[in-house]
Amino acid sequence: MQSFQLPKRAFTVPIKSYKQEDWQGGNQSLKEEFDYSIEDVEGEIPPDLQGTLFRNVPAMLDVNGQRLRHPFDGDGMICKITFSKGRAHFRNRFVRTEGYLAEKKANKILYRGVFGTQKPGGWLENAFDFRAKNVANINVIYWDRKLLALWEAAPPYRLDPQTLETLGMETLGSFLHEGSPFGSHPKIDPGGEDRETRLVAFGIKAGLSSEITIYELDQIGRVVKQHAHLVPGVAFMHDFAVTPNYCIFFQNPLFFNPLPYIFGFRGAAECIFPLANQPTKIWVIPRDETKGVQVFETEPSFIFHHANAFEQGDEVIVDSISYQNLPTMEFSYQDFDFEKVPPGQLCRFRLNLKAKITSRQLIDLRSVEFPYVHPSCIGQPHRWVFLGAAHRREGNAPLQAIFKIDPESGQQEVWSAAPHGFVSEPIFVPRPDSSVEDDGWILTLVYDSAHHRSDVVILDARDLNRGSVARLHLKHHIPYGLHGCFTSESLV
Ligand code: FE2
Repeated sequence: MQSFQLPKRAFTVPIKSYKQEDWQGGNQSLKEEFDYSIEDVEGEIPPDLQGTLFRNVPAMLDVNGQRLRHPFDGDGMICKITFSKGRAHFRNRFVRTEGYLAEKKANKILYRGVFGTQKPGGWLENAFDFRAKNVANINVIYWDRKLLALWEAAPPYRLDPQTLETLGMETLGSFLHEGSPFGSHPKIDPGGEDRETRLVAFGIKAGLSSEITIYELDQIGRVVKQHAHLVPGVAFMHDFAVTPNYCIFFQNPLFFNPLPYIFGFRGAAECIFPLANQPTKIWVIPRDETKGVQVFETEPSFIFHHANAFEQGDEVIVDSISYQNLPTMEFSYQDFDFEKVPPGQLCRFRLNLKAKITSRQLIDLRSVEFPYVHPSCIGQPHRWVFLGAAHRREGNAPLQAIFKIDPESGQQEVWSAAPHGFVSEPIFVPRPDSSVEDDGWILTLVYDSAHHRSDVVILDARDLNRGSVARLHLKHHIPYGLHGCFTSESLV
């Protein structure tokens, strides 16, 4: 058994905590599909960690030797790690989307990518081709025993949660049709004494004027609420926050110049630009569709992800990852320079619904992304936020650490995989029957550039300084992914 020691806290890492070529190793395609028990384990898998971790990963990063321009254009692959009685099992399958199957058959790129991937043949081959390829590569959720691979601008693909076989497009009982936008960030509202648990989701039709449609699904997968709202201007809203009474959307100040896209020079996302000196708008949409929408403004910023929101007196409080300006959508595998991109930082926004005022507070300087809170805290006050983070406290860099912070007190802990490790979104799994908010585990995939393979790392969320509880060495690497979920069902 080959072992690899990640430092508990890498105080000895030099000022730059990584090498560019090490980080690039995680940007290689994974084309093979595997099905095996994970035997190479350091430490002990907690026997009471029972369930299944799903992750969605853009894993097809080249087609017949042609590199995609941006990893976000890559076909989605679902990875599944099942924990049962102190053991773990790995399986992965590509989502067999229409585009994946067509390109596999043709063995060449047939679609333009939203993030700039072009069909071979130059701009003439790409101009006026407005077909969108649903790559199903952003998130994966498990709801009503359905496993759904999510993209941004089309319905989900449904997969068998055990075999990962693709079963086809999900319509939510004919609420969605071919081309219906369905966002990649549904939220599970845990409900309460007088409220049932619901999946709250949204879709956006973007244009000169955009339309947000909100869906609420009950626990047996029925759409029990659907309402649409018009928003002036381009609405690039990747995520939202939910509370018992509101859905909260941040509209980043942007404009869309479609000409380079129309004429085949750029992908659609590469035609989005910041609107200088314009505020970010915050749309507070009541879940009771008979009540009025409120709009707030805050400082110019750009937000992909929200950690959580909750109601407190007259206020709605939202913790979000905020960038000073729009991070570049352009991507170079060789030359991508993290230091030229602004860091995402955890901020707390307070929206006073009565006084109609907002405030914004920077919680911490560290560059962070992929926030996660205890699932029972969604829409409720939380103490802890878990995040992927840069190793160093200042500046931008790849995510190499897991960061835990209490936004109220600033109390924090860091576990770092630097210099050779690169982390993914941390997923918090509560310990069964626990009543303490951070009593559970953090599950994260770590790309180990020293061995060009990935580890499933289990951390004790109560004490990140303890180091890893277990490291499960996979037989291969997994490219950098986006989002995932955990269910307490052990689905082998
Ligand atoms: Fe996201």
